[in-house]
Amino acid sequence: MFVSMMQLPSQLIFSFLLIALSFNCLGKAQEEFIYFEKEIRPILKEACFHCHGEDNVKKGDLDLRLVRLMIEGGKSGSSLHPEKPDQSLLWKNISTDRMPKGENKLSTEQKEKILKWIEQGSKTVRPEPANVEEARYTQEELSHWAFQPIKRTNPPTEENNPIDSFIIAKLQSHGLNI
Ligand code: HEC
Repeated sequence: MFVSMMQLPSQLIFSFLLIALSFNCLGKAQEEFIYFEKEIRPILKEACFHCHGEDNVKKGDLDLRLVRLMIEGGKSGSSLHPEKPDQSLLWKNISTDRMPKGENKLSTEQKEKILKWIEQGSKTVRPEPANVEEARYTQEELSHWAFQPIKRTNPPTEENNPIDSFIIAKLQSHGLNI
């Protein structure tokens, strides 16, 4: 009797542990996906868009602003085969430092990110716009504070200078007083 009473909680704990572990793994797997808009586009925007998209003449007839345009490709045909970096001209050019043209090359971390993104199937967060000009700013970029409309906010306390009042309120929220 004593043994079975002891067994029950340990079995319960074990199954809870299993459930917790499996949730944790699922959560991790989701987090680890790399998405074009979030992590890849910023790299290409800085290193490639001026030659492959934003200028009227696209070098090598290749536009890198959308994933479907990479798949469509340029002068030499498709540049991107999702899940197959070895068959992707994009990866061949990046891994050998042939691209970006010029002195500034991609860092090892940037290359690894792009490689992983291709291997994972070149995911985008959402379907891409039909017109590439509509992709000038992504939702990720537009959610930056600088793009938010100006809102009127009342100062939290009755100080002479409202800026002081905001600062004092913030300090107090961190347990600091002046
Ligand atoms: C300073 C301009 C410049 C920059 C920056 C640049 N490229 Fe290029 N790219 C070119 C030119 C010119 C060509 C065509 C001639 C060639 O293939 O060498 C080309 C061709 C390519 C091609 C082959 C297209 C085809 O179909 O033949 C790929 C893929 C490519 N670039 C990828 C990239 C990537 C990825 C980046 C950024 C990491 C990048 N390029 C940055 C100038 C540039």
